[in-house]
Amino acid sequence: MGYSKLSLGLLGVLVSHLAPAAAQNFTSDPSRFKIFELLEAESGPCDLCTGPDDAIWAQNILTDTIARIDPQTGTVEEYPIPYDTPAPTSILNLVDGDTLAPGLGNRSALACAIHTGSDGNIYAAGGLRNQLVKIVPSTREITVLGPNPPNELGDLLFFNDMWTGPNGMFFSQTTANKVTYYHYDTGVFQDFTPPTPASGPLGMRIYSGDGNLWFTEFFGNKIAKLDFRSGEITEYPLPLPEMGPSVLRVEEGEFLWFVITLGNGLGRINTNTGKIDLYFSPKPLELPAEDDADRDGNIFFSAFLSDTINYYVPQSQEFGTITIPDGVVVAQALPPDVPIAMHYYNTTNTMWFALVARNQVGYYVLDPA
Ligand SMILES: *[C@@H]1O[C@H](CO)[C@@H](O)[C@H](O)[C@H]1NC(C)=O
Ligand SMILES: *[C@@H]1O[C@H](CO)[C@@H](O)[C@H](O)[C@H]1NC(C)=O
Ligand SMILES: *[C@@H]1O[C@H](CO)[C@@H](O)[C@H](O)[C@H]1NC(C)=O
Repeated sequence: MGYSKLSLGLLGVLVSHLAPAAAQNFTSDPSRFKIFELLEAESGPCDLCTGPDDAIWAQNILTDTIARIDPQTGTVEEYPIPYDTPAPTSILNLVDGDTLAPGLGNRSALACAIHTGSDGNIYAAGGLRNQLVKIVPSTREITVLGPNPPNELGDLLFFNDMWTGPNGMFFSQTTANKVTYYHYDTGVFQDFTPPTPASGPLGMRIYSGDGNLWFTEFFGNKIAKLDFRSGEITEYPLPLPEMGPSVLRVEEGEFLWFVITLGNGLGRINTNTGKIDLYFSPKPLELPAEDDADRDGNIFFSAFLSDTINYYVPQSQEFGTITIPDGVVVAQALPPDVPIAMHYYNTTNTMWFALVARNQVGYYVLDPA
């Protein structure tokens, strides 16, 4: 009877792999959605993170503000970022003083990246100002860290991203071709420059398997690995041109998954071999924006031009779509809802999104059972 324990264990593994995952019942049933309105009109919630306080924190792109949503009570708070430099000229008012989005004027630096640091604080991007912002979650105190003066040519694309390292926060300066490491203890900003000129470093995360920072090169069409202890950067070209790899936030075994914004789908890199595979969404021209995975390994992604939560199931290699229920679009000048954030909140097994043009943050219940 020596087989019993081992083979029962193996059987268990087999069964758990073969059983259809209940979490894949991703219907568009409106009762599975919960929506929160932001307090200030046209704040434009753009990126989300879970704070050390287990609240959802949002960086707004249409105002220089940070929002906090308590998922348990539903309380929404909003706080201004105390910038001390003049407002940069934003694309919102480039056209002869005639703004693209009427009424928004100079009130926004178009920032869209927020992430919890390993030091217990929250950090956010400075958009066109290209400065790092620090939020103390318990006191809600917000400070602008620098670099000072800012390198205003550093983030003209205004989409960048960040990820915490063991002793500091990494962020990309997309148009400056730099990945910068802000050291929590010394306040030093340490720059790393990819070998490819004007590569457009954008999305990033630390891979738990090797402790390196892996990042996308939007214009360079490559994935890069930064060993920040030695400063060495290794680049891996995508197998097809002009895919526009952007946000990279999903780790699955030896793979890292990223969205290909211009290629309209997802990509994954094997962190051992550097081999890159591409997966194209069956829905054309939706411009994928951000990816995140749930606890069952399903990969979710937002798309700039589609009012949906999109997902990909690696086991079955299937793409799917969840439709976000209709609501009132408040910033009429902008296309659809402009859903950019895609953020998994493990505490309640929900997938959170932010609708820039509707001024709303919401979540979708992954397992309604
Ligand atoms: C799928 O989810 C819906 C709610 O959206 C629920 O009513 C239904 O029972 C679920 N079906 C299965 C097979 O789990
Ligand atoms: C925006 O700022 C610029 C430079 O400070 C200024 O010239 C312009 O009038 C401002 N536009 C609006 C709509 O406030
Ligand atoms: C997510 O939640 C599940 C269920 O509560 C828990 O078992 C798991 O450890 C959590 N994962 C993380 C990364 O916190």
